[in-house]
Amino acid sequence: MAIKLNTSSFLGIDGSIVSVEVDIERGLPSFNIVGLADTSVKESKERVKASIINSGFEFPIKKIVVNLAPADMKKAGSLFDLPIAVGILICTGQMNFYDWEDFLILGELSLSGNLNKVRGVLPITLEGIKNNIKNFIVPIENAEECSSIKGVNCYAFENLKQIVYFIKYRDLLPYKHKRVSSKIPHSTLDFSDVFGQESCKRALEVASAGNHNVLMAGPPGSGKTMMARRVPTILPNLNYEKSLEVTKIYSVTGNLNTNEGLITKPPFRSPHHTITAAALIGGGNNLMPGEISLAHNGVLFLDEVLEFKKNVLEVLRQPLEEKRITINRCSGRVSFPCNFMTIMATNPCPCGNFASGKHCTCTDYERKRYISKLSSPFMDRIDLFTFVTSLNFKDIQNSKKSESSKSIRKRVEDARKIQKKRFMNHGIQYNSEMNSTLIKKYCKLNKKSIEILAKIYSKYKLTTRAYSKILKVSRTIADLDHSECINESHLTEALCYRKFTGGGYM
Ligand SMILES: Nc1ncnc2c1ncn2[C@@H]1O[C@H](COP(=O)(O)OP(=O)(O)OP(=O)(O)O)[C@@H](O)[C@H]1O
Ligand SMILES: [Mg+2]
Ligand SMILES: [Zn+2]
Repeated sequence: MAIKLNTSSFLGIDGSIVSVEVDIERGLPSFNIVGLADTSVKESKERVKASIINSGFEFPIKKIVVNLAPADMKKAGSLFDLPIAVGILICTGQMNFYDWEDFLILGELSLSGNLNKVRGVLPITLEGIKNNIKNFIVPIENAEECSSIKGVNCYAFENLKQIVYFIKYRDLLPYKHKRVSSKIPHSTLDFSDVFGQESCKRALEVASAGNHNVLMAGPPGSGKTMMARRVPTILPNLNYEKSLEVTKIYSVTGNLNTNEGLITKPPFRSPHHTITAAALIGGGNNLMPGEISLAHNGVLFLDEVLEFKKNVLEVLRQPLEEKRITINRCSGRVSFPCNFMTIMATNPCPCGNFASGKHCTCTDYERKRYISKLSSPFMDRIDLFTFVTSLNFKDIQNSKKSESSKSIRKRVEDARKIQKKRFMNHGIQYNSEMNSTLIKKYCKLNKKSIEILAKIYSKYKLTTRAYSKILKVSRTIADLDHSECINESHLTEALCYRKFTGGGYM
C-alpha cells in the first residue's frame, strides 16, 4: 500500500507544495527516491534509515520507493527527511495518520533522530495556508518563523519520537508565537553619538525620507562609516507586507535567527569590497538571493566604494533601476526583489586629505581620475552627494548633544507617509522612483525657484538627468517640511547635494 503526505519545497522565495509518496513492497531490499531529487535529497536516505532505527522503530528490509511529486519540479534540501521517515513508519504499520491531508510536514533529521532547523519555512508556511493547509509539523528551531503567520497551527518538535507520539495521541497544543520583537535588543547605535557633521546628517535624513541613493566623501576618520551604520535607526519599522518580503529572503538564505519571527526592522547590509558579482546580486547553483536582496526594504552600504571591482559595481546598475533582479542559470530562473537605499562612502582623493584642512598631496588630475572609477552611468544613479569634513578640536569641544535618532525618524516617517499617499495609484513608493511624468505632476516650483534653477541650469550646463534629480530631492525636502509647494529654500538645499568634491554641479 502506498501512502501520501504533504510537504513543501521552495524555489527563489516562493514555496510550492510537494507530496511525498512512500511505497514498500516485498523484494530485494532497496531504498530509492525518485522525482527530480538532487544529491542533497538523495542523501536523506542514510539519515532517515539511521534516525528510524535510533529512535527505537523498525526499518523495513524491503523494497522502498519514495516519489516526490510533481516530478517535473527540481527539489533540493534536507527538509524531506521527516515526511519520508513518517511515511515509512505509517507504511510499515508502526503508526496511523488518518488526517494527513490537513498537515504539512517538514524537517531535517540527524542520525540520532533529532530534528534540525531547515531553510525556507516562512515561504513554505505561506504556501501551505494558500492551499488551505493550516497544521504544520516543523523542527522546534523553526517554530517562531512558522507560527508568526496568522491562522497557523504550528506543532514544533525536537525529535522523531515526539512526532510519532503526537500523531498517535494528539497530546499537544499548537506552539504559541512569542512576540519576540520586544525581546531582541534594540540597536544601541544612535545619531546622538555623532558630534557635529550636521550637513551630512541632514543629507542622510533627506536620503532616508525619499529612499535616495547617497554618496559620502570625506577624509579618513571623519565618521562616514559611523554615520552610515546609524541610518537604519532613522528609518521607519517595516509594515506587515514589507516585513514578510524581507523575512522570506532571510528564511530561504538561512539568515533568520532561531528565536526570531518576522523581521520588523529595516535590514542593513554592508558587504566587503572583495565581494563577487554573484554574491552581490545573487545566483549560484542553488539560486540564492544575494546581498542586494538581503538589503531589500533597507540599506545597502558600500563602504570604500572605489575599492569594489569595476565589474561588481556595474552589475548593480540594472537592479538599482528596476528594484528587482532576475537570475537565469541552468538550474532555473528566479526573481528576487531588491528595493533598497544605497549609501556609499569614499575618501575624496588618493591621499584622503582633500578639503580636510590637512595638506592634500594630490593633483587635480589625480583627484578626477580617482573619482572617475565610478562610471558616469553609475554616478547618474546617485541622487545626493555630501562632503564629510574632519572635525577640529573646537568643533568637538563645543558641540552640543546632537539630535536623537528617534526624533529624526519621526520626520522621516511623516515624509514617507506623504509619499505613500501621493503615489497610492502610481505603483511606486518613494520620490526617488518618480518618472518624468510624475516629476512634472508633483514637483511644481514657485516663481522664485524657477528663476534660480534656470540660472544654475544654463550656467553649469546641467543635464536633463541632473535636473530631474534636483527636482526629486527638492520634493523630498519639501515633504520633510510638510510643504505642498517646492519653494526656494527647498530647491537651494537640493542644489547643495549636487556639488561634489568642490567641483561644479553634477
Ligand atoms: N563626528 C564624530 N562624532 C563622534 N565620533 C566620531 C566622529 N567622527 C569620527 N568619530 C570616531 O572616529 C571613529 C572612526 O570613524 P569612521 O570609521 O566612521 O571614519 P571613516 O570616515 O569611515 O574613516 P575611513 O575613511 O578611514 O573609513 C569612529 O568610530 C568614532 O569613534
Ligand atoms: Mg570608514
Ligand atoms: Zn589628496
